Amino acid sequence: MDIDTMDVEQIRKDVDEICKPWEGRPGNLIMILHEIQNRYSYVPRRISFEVAKHLSIPLARIYEVITFYNYFKLTPPGKHIVSVCMGTACYLKGAPTLVEAMGNHLGIKPGETTPDKNFYLQVVRCLGCCGLAPVITVGQKVYSGVKPEQVPAILAEYK
Ligand code: FES
Repeated sequence: MDIDTMDVEQIRKDVDEICKPWEGRPGNLIMILHEIQNRYSYVPRRISFEVAKHLSIPLARIYEVITFYNYFKLTPPGKHIVSVCMGTACYLKGAPTLVEAMGNHLGIKPGETTPDKNFYLQVVRCLGCCGLAPVITVGQKVYSGVKPEQVPAILAEYK
Protein backbone atom coordinates (compact mmCIF):
# COMPACT_ATOMS: atom_id res chain seq x y z
CA MET A 1 0.00 0.00 0.00
CA ASP A 2 1.58 3.29 -1.08
CA ILE A 3 0.67 5.91 1.44
CA ASP A 4 1.71 8.78 -0.84
CA THR A 5 -0.96 7.91 -3.38
CA MET A 6 -3.78 7.26 -0.90
CA ASP A 7 -6.48 9.89 -0.90
CA VAL A 8 -7.38 11.64 2.31
CA GLU A 9 -10.76 9.85 2.56
CA GLN A 10 -9.03 6.47 2.50
CA ILE A 11 -6.57 7.65 5.14
CA ARG A 12 -9.41 8.86 7.40
CA LYS A 13 -11.25 5.57 6.93
CA ASP A 14 -8.11 3.60 7.91
CA VAL A 15 -7.48 5.84 10.92
CA ASP A 16 -11.11 5.44 12.11
CA GLU A 17 -10.78 1.70 11.79
CA ILE A 18 -7.44 1.59 13.62
CA CYS A 19 -8.48 3.93 16.44
CA LYS A 20 -12.00 2.60 17.10
CA PRO A 21 -11.08 -0.45 19.24
CA TRP A 22 -8.84 1.71 21.44
CA GLU A 23 -11.09 4.70 22.04
CA GLY A 24 -11.26 5.76 25.68
CA ARG A 25 -8.75 3.11 26.79
CA PRO A 26 -5.63 4.06 28.74
CA GLY A 27 -2.37 3.71 26.82
CA ASN A 28 -4.30 3.71 23.58
CA LEU A 29 -1.78 5.81 21.65
CA ILE A 30 0.90 3.10 21.89
CA MET A 31 -1.56 0.42 20.78
CA ILE A 32 -2.71 2.58 17.89
CA LEU A 33 0.88 3.18 16.79
CA HIS A 34 1.57 -0.57 16.94
CA GLU A 35 -1.45 -1.20 14.75
CA ILE A 36 -0.33 1.45 12.28
CA GLN A 37 3.15 -0.03 12.04
CA ASN A 38 1.70 -3.54 11.56
CA ARG A 39 -0.43 -2.27 8.74
CA TYR A 40 2.03 0.01 6.90
CA SER A 41 5.36 -1.39 8.25
CA TYR A 42 6.21 2.10 9.53
CA VAL A 43 4.35 5.12 10.93
CA PRO A 44 3.70 7.46 8.00
CA ARG A 45 3.45 11.16 8.72
CA ARG A 46 0.13 11.49 6.89
CA ILE A 47 -1.38 8.85 9.18
CA SER A 48 0.08 10.42 12.34
CA PHE A 49 -1.46 13.72 11.32
CA GLU A 50 -4.93 12.16 11.03
CA VAL A 51 -4.51 10.23 14.29
CA ALA A 52 -3.67 13.48 16.09
CA LYS A 53 -6.89 15.03 14.75
CA HIS A 54 -8.91 11.94 15.54
CA LEU A 55 -7.69 11.77 19.15
CA SER A 56 -7.58 15.57 19.58
CA ILE A 57 -3.96 15.51 20.69
CA PRO A 58 -0.99 17.51 19.40
CA LEU A 59 1.01 15.87 16.61
CA ALA A 60 4.10 16.48 18.76
CA ARG A 61 2.72 14.05 21.38
CA ILE A 62 2.69 11.29 18.75
CA TYR A 63 6.26 12.05 17.72
CA GLU A 64 7.35 12.05 21.36
CA VAL A 65 6.13 8.47 21.69
CA ILE A 66 7.53 7.35 18.33
CA THR A 67 10.97 8.71 19.05
CA PHE A 68 11.02 7.41 22.63
CA TYR A 69 10.50 3.79 21.55
CA ASN A 70 13.03 2.90 18.90
CA TYR A 71 10.73 0.06 17.85
CA PHE A 72 8.69 2.51 15.77
CA LYS A 73 9.93 3.37 12.30
CA LEU A 74 9.42 6.74 10.66
CA THR A 75 10.47 5.67 7.20
CA PRO A 76 9.51 2.61 5.19
CA PRO A 77 11.85 -0.26 5.95
CA GLY A 78 13.78 -1.88 3.12
CA LYS A 79 12.50 -4.88 1.23
CA HIS A 80 14.54 -7.27 3.41
CA ILE A 81 14.64 -6.72 7.16
CA VAL A 82 17.97 -7.84 8.63
CA SER A 83 17.81 -8.40 12.37
CA VAL A 84 20.92 -8.98 14.44
CA CYS A 85 20.18 -10.45 17.86
CA MET A 86 21.93 -8.65 20.71
CA GLY A 87 20.40 -10.72 23.50
CA THR A 88 22.86 -11.93 26.14
CA ALA A 89 23.82 -15.25 24.51
CA CYS A 90 24.32 -13.68 21.09
CA TYR A 91 26.12 -10.69 22.57
CA LEU A 92 28.60 -12.95 24.36
CA LYS A 93 29.20 -14.95 21.18
CA GLY A 94 30.12 -11.92 19.09
CA ALA A 95 26.90 -10.20 17.98
CA PRO A 96 28.51 -6.72 18.20
CA THR A 97 31.00 -7.74 15.50
CA LEU A 98 28.07 -8.87 13.33
CA VAL A 99 26.34 -5.52 13.72
CA GLU A 100 29.56 -3.84 12.69
CA ALA A 101 30.08 -6.19 9.71
CA MET A 102 26.48 -5.72 8.53
CA GLY A 103 26.72 -1.96 8.91
CA ASN A 104 30.02 -1.78 7.04
CA HIS A 105 28.83 -4.03 4.25
CA LEU A 106 25.52 -2.23 3.77
CA GLY A 107 26.86 1.25 4.51
CA ILE A 108 24.11 1.96 7.07
CA LYS A 109 23.60 1.96 10.84
CA PRO A 110 20.92 0.01 12.72
CA GLY A 111 17.56 1.70 12.21
CA GLU A 112 18.43 2.72 8.64
CA THR A 113 17.49 1.53 5.17
CA THR A 114 19.97 1.20 2.29
CA PRO A 115 19.58 3.87 -0.42
CA ASP A 116 18.32 1.21 -2.88
CA LYS A 117 15.63 0.29 -0.28
CA ASN A 118 16.71 -3.35 -0.41
CA PHE A 119 17.77 -3.77 3.24
CA TYR A 120 16.70 -2.41 6.59
CA LEU A 121 19.09 -3.16 9.47
CA GLN A 122 17.92 -3.53 13.05
CA VAL A 123 19.20 -4.80 16.36
CA VAL A 124 16.77 -6.92 18.33
CA ARG A 125 16.60 -8.63 21.71
CA CYS A 126 16.60 -12.42 22.09
CA LEU A 127 15.07 -14.20 19.10
CA GLY A 128 14.33 -17.23 21.22
CA CYS A 129 16.96 -19.60 19.82
CA CYS A 130 19.92 -18.80 22.08
CA GLY A 131 21.44 -22.27 21.56
CA LEU A 132 22.21 -21.19 17.99
CA ALA A 133 23.97 -17.95 18.97
CA PRO A 134 24.95 -15.67 17.44
CA VAL A 135 21.79 -15.45 15.39
CA ILE A 136 20.62 -13.15 12.63
CA THR A 137 17.47 -13.22 10.55
CA VAL A 138 16.83 -11.91 7.08
CA GLY A 139 13.08 -11.72 6.69
CA GLN A 140 11.82 -15.05 8.10
CA LYS A 141 15.06 -16.96 7.50
CA VAL A 142 17.25 -17.68 10.53
CA TYR A 143 21.05 -17.91 10.29
CA SER A 144 22.86 -19.46 13.24
CA GLY A 145 26.43 -19.41 14.47
CA VAL A 146 27.13 -16.54 12.11
CA LYS A 147 30.67 -15.21 11.74
CA PRO A 148 31.40 -11.70 10.42
CA GLU A 149 33.17 -13.11 7.36
CA GLN A 150 29.91 -14.85 6.33
CA VAL A 151 28.00 -11.56 6.15
CA PRO A 152 28.70 -10.73 2.47
CA ALA A 153 27.61 -14.19 1.29
CA ILE A 154 24.42 -14.08 3.36
CA LEU A 155 23.44 -10.67 2.04
CA ALA A 156 24.32 -11.67 -1.53
CA GLU A 157 21.39 -14.13 -1.39
CA TYR A 158 19.05 -11.12 -1.32
CA LYS A 159 20.62 -8.80 -3.88
S1 FES B 1 20.13 -14.15 22.78
FE1 FES B 1 20.09 -14.29 20.65
S2 FES B 1 18.60 -15.79 20.31
FE2 FES B 1 18.55 -15.55 22.43
